Amino acid sequence: GRGPLKIAVYGTGYLGATHAVAMAELGFEVLGADVDQAKVDALAAGKVPFFEPGLDPLLEKHLATGRLRFTTDLTSAAAWGDVHFICVGTPQMKTSHAANLSYVESAATTIAKNLTKDALIVGKSTVPVGTAARLRELVAAQAPAGVSLELVWNPEFLREGKAVDDTLHPDRIVLGGTSERAEATLREVYAGPIAEGTPVVVTDLPTAELVKVSANAFLATKISFINAISTVCEAAGADVTVLADALGHDVRIGRQFLNAGLGFGGGCLPKDIRALMHRANELGAYRASALLQQVDEINMGQRERVLDMAVEACGGSVLNRRIGVLGAAFKPDTDDVRDSPALNVAAALHLRGAQVTVFDPEAGDTARRSFPTLSYATSIEEAVEGTDAVLVLTEWDQFATADADKLAPLTATPRVVDARGKLDPARWRAAGWEFAGLGRPAA
Ligand code: UDX
Repeated sequence: GRGPLKIAVYGTGYLGATHAVAMAELGFEVLGADVDQAKVDALAAGKVPFFEPGLDPLLEKHLATGRLRFTTDLTSAAAWGDVHFICVGTPQMKTSHAANLSYVESAATTIAKNLTKDALIVGKSTVPVGTAARLRELVAAQAPAGVSLELVWNPEFLREGKAVDDTLHPDRIVLGGTSERAEATLREVYAGPIAEGTPVVVTDLPTAELVKVSANAFLATKISFINAISTVCEAAGADVTVLADALGHDVRIGRQFLNAGLGFGGGCLPKDIRALMHRANELGAYRASALLQQVDEINMGQRERVLDMAVEACGGSVLNRRIGVLGAAFKPDTDDVRDSPALNVAAALHLRGAQVTVFDPEAGDTARRSFPTLSYATSIEEAVEGTDAVLVLTEWDQFATADADKLAPLTATPRVVDARGKLDPARWRAAGWEFAGLGRPAA
């Protein structure tokens, strides 16, 4: 007999840090490994290097139980672990839509080379279909003689802001390319969620890889669909928020991900649909690629639309106009500004000569680091002070509940552009605001 499973997690970004903490919470001995000394130091000191509700207390808890440790020594992690989760990033290439697989390949190689006993490598990173099969050959060629090694795929579907819950209570667990032995090991790893009734889908490697990117592509398509319809609403004088509510009552459609607005951003959806577009093309699936191309174009077009709305609100030019931007994060409940539509619009306004002041409840610091030339406020009041127009660009709840009556007199002219369908037009108009909403009728 073997003792309790030793779980090594490679990559301590959003995915890896959350996964490592969740594995400790499920009772395993966990070692999180990353080449980034600063990340490892922060995590080892009990500090999550990003904003993720609920993660800090669990990290502290398991540093204290001693079940969770972090290291920059990938080699010794490889020698130590029974199960090796690859959670490193697969960013978009600088010169194409393809995913950069160098981090995944390097993690797999390091693990395989340094194994000292039988091991299971589990890929969790989001990869183009076909990657896992290639990695299998790569690790087989690198593993020391006498060590039995398997590589399987187990995609992760966590959302930022709900990462802990999504990991501990997933909608489904997908196991790709497992032998009987590997499946048994992973059922042991996920015994907690499985006992709660989480469905397990056992399949081959390519299907497992594709489930993940298809899920993201579908979500992206839903958002671009409602955004396309919102242009029709605007032209016809209809209200896309009411329309989405009405559509959502059909359970086949569902209300989620039908919020029209500035569109999707973040570290996942944009790069994942582009990578799938690229891969589909390589595989000759041109229609799928064309569909995703439209989804991407509609999404990027929303940023132009909102920019135009802002220019129009300011009477044709934003030059020297004071604009208050509410929202910098790519979505609420995160401080992540990667490919943030909000910051993208704020920066574009700045380039056109507007004086832009940004407020975000959590992402102010990360935004300042990426866009140091914009001004930042520490409250909604400060951001709207003296403005010619206010733009709501991230769907934080606190913008919906902001006091329109109190804010109006702080502005130079009370004008608001709601690019996220969060505000109640009647209430803001009653408070004296000129209101423009994306996909909503004019007053
Ligand atoms: C996404 C997937 O949801 C998750 O399952 C996957 O594992 C990683 O990618 P995440 O990037 O955290 O998660 O964000 P998500 O909550 O999906 O939001 C993505 C973007 O879509 C945000 O910019 C958000 O503002 C936008 N969005 C979302 C809309 O514009 N309208 C909506 O109705 C929903």
